Amino acid sequence: MLQGKVALVTGASRGIGRACAVALAEWGAVVAVNYRQNEREALQTLSALQGDGHFLLQGDVADPEVCRNLVEQTVKQAGRLDILVNNAGIYEPLPFSEPEYMHWQHAWRRMFDVNFFSAVNLSYHAVRAMRREGSGKIIFIASRAGIRGEANHSHYAASKGAMVVLARSMAVELARENIQVYAIAPGWVATDMAAEPLKQRGESIVAQIPVGRVADPMDVAKAVRFLASPDADYLTGITLDVNGGSYIR
Ligand SMILES: NC(=O)c1ccc[n+]([C@@H]2O[C@H](COP(=O)([O-])OP(=O)(O)OC[C@H]3O[C@@H](n4cnc5c(N)ncnc54)[C@H](OP(=O)(O)O)[C@@H]3O)[C@@H](O)[C@H]2O)c1
Repeated sequence: MLQGKVALVTGASRGIGRACAVALAEWGAVVAVNYRQNEREALQTLSALQGDGHFLLQGDVADPEVCRNLVEQTVKQAGRLDILVNNAGIYEPLPFSEPEYMHWQHAWRRMFDVNFFSAVNLSYHAVRAMRREGSGKIIFIASRAGIRGEANHSHYAASKGAMVVLARSMAVELARENIQVYAIAPGWVATDMAAEPLKQRGESIVAQIPVGRVADPMDVAKAVRFLASPDADYLTGITLDVNGGSYIR
């Protein structure tokens, strides 16, 4: 389904990003595997990918110049860019109006730089590359939190909600250029990011999921792969919930 396509997956050294890289490569895509610092894990992702031509791209996506560079390097090394998966992200607690103001502001800015502006900046450059090919797919890994909100994580939830609206806006604007844009809103997924909450209150988390388990990263990756395929072209603009029935709307 994705033979001849080139994908850039951010935050692909671990978790959902790694699963996306594996799933896209299974269907024939060449994958640029971005990571921030964890080279050993990124190499493990690389060695798990089917097919040839995959490569690593180190870089902190919170830096706008890195975003430009990631797209440029992908096109330079693989010849084109067809699929961008904006996956890299952080998740931290931040109770409202705590701690003191300067620290609080810094936490909000950092959250938006890593989770949201990274995706905006990468998409800017990706759209330029996709226009040259006459087609493209951009997929934002948002979150259930970005739809229903999340106590003690308002900055995280807001960054993900912003992604959902960005995806919808871009989908409308770019539809006639054959560039499709989507968001995915996962509930809890068994990755390093969720490890601590799952350890502390795994039972109560699972009790709120009708299917009776948290998601495996591959549950999300298969949804990403479907959206990246031509079968999902007409679905542009949607947000796909991947949450085991825990929040049906
Ligand atoms: N896990 C969940 O329950 C869940 C639920 C809903 C949505 N999500 C979203 O899914 C995405 C992936 O989450 P995950 O659970 O797979 O997280 P994870 O296990 O913590 O992995 C995070 C990945 O992002 C990379 N990364 C973090 N900051 C980066 C930066 N500034 N620049 C480049 N790469 C960066 C990490 O690279 P290094 O390895 O180099 O640090 C790693 O590859 C996130 O956007 C998250 O918000 C997760």
